[in-house]
Amino acid sequence: TERTFVMVKPDGVQRGLISEILERFENRGLKIVGAKFMQMDRELAEQHYAEHEGKPFYEGLVDFITSGPVFAMVLDGQDATRQVRRMMGDTDPAEAAPGTIRGDYGLDLGRNVIHGSDHEDEGANEREIDLFFDEDELVEWDKIDGSWLYE
Ligand code: GTP
Ligand code: MG
Repeated sequence: TERTFVMVKPDGVQRGLISEILERFENRGLKIVGAKFMQMDRELAEQHYAEHEGKPFYEGLVDFITSGPVFAMVLDGQDATRQVRRMMGDTDPAEAAPGTIRGDYGLDLGRNVIHGSDHEDEGANEREIDLFFDEDELVEWDKIDGSWLYE
């Protein structure tokens, strides 16, 4: 299995969507191996969004992601990075399919509720996990339904 980094953004937290979002991942069978409620500082935000530096929306994005608390998670499962991105839906909630998190909870590109590591960016999941979590904040454990989730 694979680990991936997922984060409910400040809009999702303010709108009280943490539990609904977490429930989707738990119901899917993904295993929580780390979670924390935290306030991102500017330095962390700039590192996290380094790939977007210089783009017209960059300053607004850093302002937004540091504007309130976020709920950061590490989830583990088969093909977890890609599966989480599928559950999140298109980056722009206006285009995201109904049934996806962004398609069900968002309307605007700059307020799209959730972040997940990009599966097309090789190693982004582990890089982001390292950026947000110390190794001792991650828990290794066996979920009892493993043999019912996977062949
Ligand atoms: P993340 O999971 O947040 O990284 O989203 P993503 O990987 O689907 O999109 P991407 O990494 O390309 O962009 C990062 C974030 O910047 C998006 O989630 C949007 O909130 C925001 N963003 C991207 N493009 C635009 C844009 O053209 N305008 C604005 N206002 N925001 C944008
Ligand atoms: Mg991205």
